Formats: sequence, structure tokens, C-alpha cells
Amino acid sequence: MDNSPRRADAESPQSLDYETIEVETLVVGAGAAGARAAIEMVESGVDPEDVLVIGKRGHGDAHTTWARGGINGALGTRDPEDDWTIHAADTLKEGHFVNDPGKVEAVARAMPALLRELDDWGMAFSRTDDGDIDQRYFGAQSFRRTAFAGDHTGESLLDTLVARARELDIPYRENVFVSKLLTGDGRILGAAGYDTDTGEFVLFDADVVILAAGGYTSLYRRHSSRDDENTGDGPALAALAGATLQDMEFVQFHPTGMVGGRYGEEWDGRLVTEAVRGEGGRLFNADGERFMRRYAPDQMELAARDVVARAIASEVEAGRGTDDGGVYLDISHRERAFIEERLPRMDERFADLGVDMAEEPVVVAPTAHYGMGGVVVDDSGQTDVEGLYAIGETMAGVHGANRLGGNSLAETIAFGAITGNAVAARRGETRGHRGDEGLLHSRATQHFADLARLTDADGSHDPEDLLDDLRDLLWDAAGIRRDGAGIEAGLDALERVAGRASDLAVGDRTSDSFEFALDLGFALVVAESILRSARERTESRGAHYRTDYPDRDASWQQNIRVTHDSIGAMHLTTHAVGTPSPAVQRALDADYQLDYHQLE
Ligand code: FUM
Repeated sequence: MDNSPRRADAESPQSLDYETIEVETLVVGAGAAGARAAIEMVESGVDPEDVLVIGKRGHGDAHTTWARGGINGALGTRDPEDDWTIHAADTLKEGHFVNDPGKVEAVARAMPALLRELDDWGMAFSRTDDGDIDQRYFGAQSFRRTAFAGDHTGESLLDTLVARARELDIPYRENVFVSKLLTGDGRILGAAGYDTDTGEFVLFDADVVILAAGGYTSLYRRHSSRDDENTGDGPALAALAGATLQDMEFVQFHPTGMVGGRYGEEWDGRLVTEAVRGEGGRLFNADGERFMRRYAPDQMELAARDVVARAIASEVEAGRGTDDGGVYLDISHRERAFIEERLPRMDERFADLGVDMAEEPVVVAPTAHYGMGGVVVDDSGQTDVEGLYAIGETMAGVHGANRLGGNSLAETIAFGAITGNAVAARRGETRGHRGDEGLLHSRATQHFADLARLTDADGSHDPEDLLDDLRDLLWDAAGIRRDGAGIEAGLDALERVAGRASDLAVGDRTSDSFEFALDLGFALVVAESILRSARERTESRGAHYRTDYPDRDASWQQNIRVTHDSIGAMHLTTHAVGTPSPAVQRALDADYQLDYHQLE
């Protein structure tokens, strides 16, 4: 499937002007992962002038700000018996044992110290009466391990990292859309893109590129991300540069998204944080039944996200949902002051919509929230392409078939630090290895010529409409429940979207439609990876639930990997998973479980 948006008439490549920026390490993406990597590099002795962080939006306005309920780390504030090995064991169990144990252990081991470091940098953690960093329940975790700042943890985290990066004078350039990674001789040469304010082309000539450009769940009809973030550019940029993708079929549906039919379409899919359930919120169907008793009597509302999401979908499909297609989430049994303190943003948001959470329930339904798949990296975050690293939601490996709530922010911080440190330590090898300058500029010029041809294209199809079609088809074909026939139908529909994508109507390079056209190119790569991987995995595991193969199959305890050959064709292979360390195996054997009923 050819993913490149095109128009017919050509512009001479020689007439293309572009700005060239030379930098040792380019960090693409300015959310928590990118910021933390840049901070680590500078704290490891790299001159800030040798690092540049670029983002699609304004400084401090990355998607991280939408992360709400918390960040995991076994501090043991509330439950002293917790430790990092149990955190790792919970993560592997939730990932249905197709996570990479080495990466899981690296994150779990690092987090307690990294949380304390964030605290030292001034992060506004919620605290216990004794002044310790407080920790709350989150789903499928054996102990209270999720540190938080009310229900605006992502915002507080990014504020802290941006302030720290500013203290360290780390340069940042905003409003840059990276449309291609440039490679030659098997290594990264740099990145090309354009300034979304001016439309001018920009070439980054870099020794190292760290890709921290998010995930892909905005490619689903109902999603918890901002519409123009998490559109798959991270994984697609890497895949088109020769890196390998993995686990793309594992897409997490958060059980509790807002319901557009009730609150207005602009709110459809927006997150109602798991913290509502972590603080005691209960789910009821339209008959007033607390239905999780039937699906997960021990863990109830704090069962794994895939279990709760499928339970809600089943209730709605059985006709026991609300008229607008959701179920009720109720925390009105808690005191008003408690809700205002622990869930301030939720409380304010619903109050603005005329709903008093201290008096009445809210209506929720599942929403696409997180792509567990992403780019294959080694233990330092490096991809198969020398000098290209991927971190945060762009990378694969930590979460396996399903992610624990609170582990996404943890991964951004842990792998930000691990990769920043590795890149700083390898400077001796990579510094000045810019590859062939002539090759870099000729590749860049070819790409800018493609972008110039797309500019003001007067074809027949609006890229935003095609993105919407793609969102519908992924929701239907690779949603909460899938089957072989539906996935095949999705692949056929995707082929038709790809056909129309070769005849686009696009504005100038400062227009939304130009950005949508590029998003569409990335979306086609990601959607095909999801659908083909979902077709290949003939079992159910974690977030991948196939109604035609409803059971977990031990022979499928392996990862599906996706590569692209030199003419862009996609190939799938399988890959064996590793084994946990003896310490984590002991924690797995001990089989710790969340005791939900402590919350009652
Ligand atoms: O519900 C939430 O606050 C989401 C957290 C997460 O996905 O980690």
C-alpha cells in the first residue's frame, strides 16, 4: 500500500529554499519523554547548545498535559510491602507476558528514585498528612503505587520538566512538523519538516535523533487524545526510515471516556480519569446494577482496563446502557471536599457541563487511549537504525498486550533518563558522524520537492474526511472486539482510503489541511500495521480480543514485528519474548493481588 499523499504537477527541486540547522542531538517531541531525555543529556555533561528539542506545538503544550491520574513507582508510601519487583511483576501480568522483561524491570527499578528527583525539582505531588508523596489505587496493581498531583499529574509533570529544561538553558523550537527522517548507509542523517507558522522548509542535520513523538490512538473514532496529537507520526516516521514496529495490534481502550451524546460531541471520548475509580468510583448499568460483580468480583471497578472496557461494551450491547450508549460512573458517596481535593479537574469540567459529581453519576463509555505497540528499541532506546532512538509512547516493549494505568508517565520518565544517559555516554562514537552531507541534502531536496507538490494541491478529497473514514474503519475493524472477517473488511476499506489519498485537495503549508495530508500518510502506515498484526494474532490476549479466537493461546506468547522493505511493502515476523530476572520471577510466583474491597 503506497502511503504517500501526492499531486500530479511537479515543481523544480532546484527552486526549493530551506533552512538548515546543525545540531548534535535532535529530540523530536517535547512531551515528558523528550524533555526528560534532553535534561538527562545536559545533566550528564552535554553542552545545552548541542541539543535541540522541537515540538509541533508551543513550549509546555505537549500532549503529556492531558495525562491525569498518576505516575507509578514503588515508593511504598501507603503500602510499605510494595517494591520494584512487584511493580515489574504487575506490569508483566497486565501485559500478558509479551512485554520485554528487561525494559519492564528497568522502568520499575528506576521509578522510585526518579519520582523523588521530580519532587526535588518542585513537582506538585499530592501529599499524605505526614508530607510524603501520596499514592493511590489504580487498576490491576497489587498495592497503592500511583503517585499523583490531584487529577492533573501530566500537567504538573510537564510544568516541572519545562521549568527544569529552562533552568538548564536547553534550546526549544516550537511549531515544527517533522515529515521525514533522513537516513543513509544504515544510520540517521537528520530530519526534514516545515515550520507550521511560516510554511518554510527546515532541515535538521543531526548525529543523533531521539524520537519522542507519541503514539497512534487518535486514529480511532473515539479517542482520549487531542485530535491533532497521537496521530501515528512517531511509529510511522521510524518505520519509513527502516526501523521495526512491534505489538501494533495491542491498542488500549480506556473504560471511561466521556460520551458525546450526553455532553456534546467536542467532549466525546475525553478521559474520565481512572483516579475516579481509584478513589472509590462505582460503575452501574441503566438498571442500577453494579455490573462489575458479574465480570470481576474480586477487583471490581479496578480490574484490568481491557476487562472493564469489555464489560461496559457488553452491558451497552445487551441493552443495559444509557440512552446515549454509556454506563454510569458514580462517586457521589464520597464527601464533596474529598472530590474537590482528589479530582479537581474532573469536578470542574463536569460542573461546567452542569453535572455535580458529589450529587450524581457521570456517563462513560470506552475510548481508545494508548497504543502499546511502537518502535523496537534496544535497552538504551536505540532502534535498528544507528543513531535513531525512540522513547515514550513511540517505543514498544514495556507494556506488552495491555498497559497498567500510571505506567505511561513512568515509562516517559524512565526511558527519557535511560536514553538521554546512553546518548550522552556515546558521544565519543557519534559526535560529528553526520554521514554524507551531500546525501543528506539530496534526500532533503527530494522530500521538499514532494512537499512542494502537495502544497495547494487541487485534487478531489479532503484529507480530514479521509482521516475520519480511517478512524471509523479502525474502530469497527480493530476495536474492543475484533474478528477475522471484520479485519479483512477493514483492510479492504483501508485500500480504498489509500486510493483516494493519491488525489487530495490541500491548502498551503500553514493550513490545517496540509498537516492533515501528512498525518494521513502516517496514518495509512500505522493502520495497515495494526490490521495486519491483528489478523495474524489468532488468539485473544489483553487488549487484543478476537471473538473468533476468544482464548489465550500459549503458542502465541511472542511479539509480532512489522518491517518495510525498500519499496515500502510491509512484512510481518514473530519474535520470542525474554524471561524475567529471578527477583521478578519470585514476585510473580508470590502472586500478589489488589484487594479492591479495602476501598469499600
Ligand atoms: O485514567 C487516567 O488517569 C489515565 C492514566 C494512564 O493512562 O496512565
